[in-house]
Parts: sequence; structure tokens; C-alpha cells
Amino acid sequence: MPETSPVVLVTGGSAGLGKIIAKTFLNAGYRVMIVGRSTERLQNAADELDGGDRLAIATCDVSELAQCHELAEQINTQFGRLDTLVNCIGTSDRGVVTELTADRLKQLWQDNVLTTLHCSQAMLILLEQSHGSIVNIGSLAGKVGARYLGGYVTAKHALTGLTQQMRLEWRDRDVHVALVSPGPIRRPDAGQRYAQHNSEALPESASAPGGGTKVKGLPPETVAAAVLKCAQRKKTDLVLPGHLRCLIAIGNAFPRLGDWLLLKFSR
Ligand SMILES: NC(=O)c1ccc[n+]([C@@H]2O[C@H](COP(=O)([O-])OP(=O)(O)OC[C@H]3O[C@@H](n4cnc5c(N)ncnc54)[C@H](OP(=O)(O)O)[C@@H]3O)[C@@H](O)[C@H]2O)c1
Repeated sequence: MPETSPVVLVTGGSAGLGKIIAKTFLNAGYRVMIVGRSTERLQNAADELDGGDRLAIATCDVSELAQCHELAEQINTQFGRLDTLVNCIGTSDRGVVTELTADRLKQLWQDNVLTTLHCSQAMLILLEQSHGSIVNIGSLAGKVGARYLGGYVTAKHALTGLTQQMRLEWRDRDVHVALVSPGPIRRPDAGQRYAQHNSEALPESASAPGGGTKVKGLPPETVAAAVLKCAQRKKTDLVLPGHLRCLIAIGNAFPRLGDWLLLKFSR
């Protein structure tokens, strides 16, 4: 693989969607660095991805700005460039607003927003040099409200706003910024990840993917292909599945109708 092949950094690349995104970019000929806090988890992912000398791992808590700057130095030393940053770290939630605490909201804010902000700030100079791209992984919950998703909707809406602001501000620096907003993604443990958040205020259906939203689970490969498309073709804002963009537009234009449709699409 020539040393001129593009380089992507995937935060949260040791698990879930991030791991599939790493695989997709490897298959597209990129050199890939995956980032997470647990070295063991990263090593297991690297063994599974089998990317040879085109795959590197880095242990880093991306919510810490100083660690992100060290990570930028590591990428520069190891690869000499960075073409794409995929900010994939994020945590969902289950709960109702009446029970949402400041501590929980701060944690969700840290996982879904601060990680993206800090990593993007630290990588900006490298991305400016390559005229590169940032792709942030949002959610349908960053475009519309949803019952029973606790503080996740608030955090992902903040990420949606941050993404557009970054795009507007970094346009002049020739750094493209995109958002991919998927609905629930298929995975083996879907529906079992939020059992610990169950409260009496929640129906049983709330632990289902998307908090019980009637949207079919997406294959993670479809989402990863959309992320690659954003990086290669400078797409700006992709919603998956695509037809839900109409629902979002209707809700923005006619909020009462939007609420009615959202309730109709939830269990
Ligand atoms: N799953 C879905 O149905 C769905 C739907 C729509 C959108 N999304 C979005 O897709 C993204 C990925 O979700 P997922 O469920 O696939 O994730 P996941 O399986 O929970 O994996 C999270 C990854 O992030 C890493 N991580 C967490 N905090 C970190 C930190 N502070 N610094 C560095 N690494 C950190 C984890 O590794 P360590 O724990 O070792 O750090 C792990 O690699 C999220 O943004 C999520 O909101 C998911």
C-alpha cells in the first residue's frame, strides 16, 4: 500500500458501528487508525479487522482535549497525514424527562458532544493540510424528538447543531464537515443494552432499539457506506433510512403534524 493512500481516524472504532466503519474504509484502500479507551478491546478489534500494516490502534480518552492533541501528534508521526476523521463515539439512553438528572445529561453530553468537539479541534490542522473531511455520527434522535430516550435526544440535537456550525466556520479552511443520522442499527445485543435504565415510568417497549420506534433496524454496513460517501463525495447531511427525511421536513414545517406522526411511529 503506497504511503500516499488516504488516512482515516475512527473514534470508537473498537466496537459496534465504529468497527464496521473501520472495515469499510480498509476495504476502500484507506490506512485506518481506530481509537478507544480500552487497549484490550482495541487489540481484539484489530485482530478481527485483520488490516495488517494499514491498521493502527491508539488508546485515548477522546473526551480529554490534551489526549486528543497527543493523538494528533501520534497520527502525524505514524502516517504523516490525516484525510478523514469519523467521530463515532456516542451513548444512547432510556428514561423520561421528569427523571432526567443533571449528572446523566452531563455524561451524555460528554460522550456525544464533547468527544466530537475535542477530537475535531485537535485534528483540524492536519485536516486543513489535506483539505480533508470530518464525518460526525448523529442519530435520528438528533433530528426529531423521541419518547423514552432520556437525555439522548438533547445530546444528539446539540451534536447536529455543532456539526453545522463546524461546517460553516471551517469551510474557509477547506475542511468539509458532514453529519450521518441513522435510525436504530442492527446488532446482536440490540434491545438488551438499556435494561439497567428501566424505570416504572417506562413501558417495556422502551428498551427496544430506538426506544420502541417503529423503524426497521439498519445493517451497520449501510451506515458505514454512507459515512464513506460523505468522506469521498463531500456529502453534507445524510439521514438513514432516507425516506424519513420527509418526516423530519414535515415536522419542521408543521410541528403539530410532526408530533402526531412521531407518536404514530412509536409503540
Ligand atoms: N447503535 C445504534 O442503534 C445507533 C443508532 C443511531 C446512532 N448511533 C450512534 O452510532 C455511534 C456508535 O454507537 P454504537 O452503539 O455502535 O457504539 P458502542 O458499540 O457502544 O461503542 C462505543 C465505542 O466508543 C468507544 N468510546 C466510548 N467513549 C470513549 C471515549 N471517551 N474515548 C475513546 N473511545 C470511547 C468505546 O470503546 P471504549 O469503551 O474501550 O472506550 C467503543 O469503541 C454513536 O454515536 C451512537 O450514538 C447508534
